[in-house]
Amino acid sequence: MPVQMTLADGVRLRVRPIVPADREPLADAFHRLSDRSRHQRFLAPKRRLSMRELDYLTDVDHVTHEALVAIDETTGEIVGIGRYATGSGGGVAADMALVVVDAWQRRGIGHGLAVRLVERAHANGITRLTGTALADNLRVRSLLERIGFRVTSVGSGVIEVELDVLRATSSRPRYRGACRTSASSSRERRASLANTRVR
Ligand SMILES: CC(C)(COP(=O)(O)OP(=O)(O)OC[C@H]1O[C@@H](n2cnc3c(N)ncnc32)[C@H](O)[C@@H]1OP(=O)(O)O)[C@@H](O)C(=O)NCCC(=O)NCCS
Repeated sequence: MPVQMTLADGVRLRVRPIVPADREPLADAFHRLSDRSRHQRFLAPKRRLSMRELDYLTDVDHVTHEALVAIDETTGEIVGIGRYATGSGGGVAADMALVVVDAWQRRGIGHGLAVRLVERAHANGITRLTGTALADNLRVRSLLERIGFRVTSVGSGVIEVELDVLRATSSRPRYRGACRTSASSSRERRASLANTRVR
């Protein structure tokens, strides 16, 4: 279900679940990332996404694996992606990752995507979200801590974070962000939570 995200400067983005037709737009967004952002997202230098990776990243079941894309309404370009995926056996815990194209960073998109993703995880029965980030990636750490993630381990240049999804979704004030999404009213939020399995 697409929702609109309005940034502090009034720019409007559309946020919706990823679909297989997003392969090319996703590859294009990857090419617009700096080397640093790619490294921070994939925890290693990364020059390109393989066909197989593009398949994996765009062909998701929206329950055990969900990805939300933020799209610039004027150009149709993907400017940010938030994703969670459970392990191969499914389950109630999932790993989460975020990335925003450099030219769009620090405008509230990462936070907005993270909030929507936690809501999707909650709606899909995921009770624990985990994440791994480079230890010097203070921006994502601060963003995730604002939502309620806590650091569970630090070592070898990376930190592990974890969120109790139930607790986070029941404490709404932590969800205040630098941008608004049009599905943030309680009525729409309930509708969004009811619309869990999109496939
Ligand atoms: C981490 C990442 C996803 C954050 O995305 P983002 O869109 O820049 O995040 P936000 O804009 O919501 O928040 C980032 C900062 O911008 C600030 N901000 C938000 N809206 C703002 C605005 N309108 N004006 C100025 N600053 C703003 C936030 O307060 C926050 O500040 P802080 O870093 O001091 O806490 C992005 O930096 C990124 O893609 N990094 C590379 C990949 C990565 O590190 N992924 C994480 C590991 S999976």
